[in-house]
Amino acid sequence: METIMEIKKSELNTGDFIKDKCREISEQVGDGLAINALSGGVDSSAVTMLGHKALGDRLKTYFIDNGIMRKGEPQWILELFKKMGVKVEIINAQDKFFNAFKGITDPEEKREAVTQTFYKDVFGGLVKKSGAKYLLQGTILTDVDETVAGIKRQHNVFEQLGIDPEQVFGYKIIEPLIQLRKDGVRKVAEALGLPESIYNRPPFPGPALAARVIGEITREKIATVRIATTIVEDELLNTGAFQCMAILHEDRVTGMRENKRDFGLQIEVRCWDSIDARKATPTKVPHETLTKLANRIVEEVPGVVSVTYNIASKPPSTMEVV
Ligand code: XMP
Repeated sequence: METIMEIKKSELNTGDFIKDKCREISEQVGDGLAINALSGGVDSSAVTMLGHKALGDRLKTYFIDNGIMRKGEPQWILELFKKMGVKVEIINAQDKFFNAFKGITDPEEKREAVTQTFYKDVFGGLVKKSGAKYLLQGTILTDVDETVAGIKRQHNVFEQLGIDPEQVFGYKIIEPLIQLRKDGVRKVAEALGLPESIYNRPPFPGPALAARVIGEITREKIATVRIATTIVEDELLNTGAFQCMAILHEDRVTGMRENKRDFGLQIEVRCWDSIDARKATPTKVPHETLTKLANRIVEEVPGVVSVTYNIASKPPSTMEVV
């Protein structure tokens, strides 16, 4: 397997990097067409801007509405990129994803279901329709490391696992950010003119809220964890944490409401301090903040009777729960 040469943030000259990557993308795609999926995270946003710089109208950008994103995401991203002159088409693929999740409870199988639905089903179709031969995507070095180490199958890593995307999915994948880690990508994203709300955005996983539901993923469970996520981000993002999240557990616990037994849901809150996601420790959130958070979650998220705060570090934890 080819070793990837890391470019550390301290060594990164963003002007040269952008020039080099644009040239490489143009050379590879030639006079053909490429497509890419924008999720609104810093990695895919940076790739979208790089790709449009390199290819202009020959890059078609899609936002795949998989039904497992955070509240209001598709519209927010669409508007933001419109202001930057980039046209994004939303593809409603919710049914395809929820069908693929049916009956699956194993964490790695859940990740595989996201991967297959995204790359084979949804993208396979879009590639055929558009006539594109290339998919541009924002894989970064940490995704590769963790997948190769067998810790977590990141949804977007193929070649390093011996999978040839062209053979399996019918298109080639171009990964301009693969030598960078998150801090380097942020620097490139800023240099590409993206707003701070994007280049400083906390990371969010490709498998989205599906990475935060234990057990089978259903529309109902996603709706629950989505409301809890909005509250957690509302209350904790201003701590300066690297990332914060709500997780919906599968086990129920006995609670009480209006003096009656309520065998209800449990939400786990995680809030991480980290530099590059390889190691992480729980943020020391003041108790008053946690109390306010717990009160809001039990009041605003239907069915929740228990809220816990994770206090174990990565490793041996990982940041997401699936
Ligand atoms: P873990 O859970 O592996 O997460 O400690 C480390 C960082 O990576 C994000 N993450 C992912 N990002 N695709 C991604 O693009 C994935 O499949 C994925 N899984 C985890 C996670 O949110 C954290 O920032």
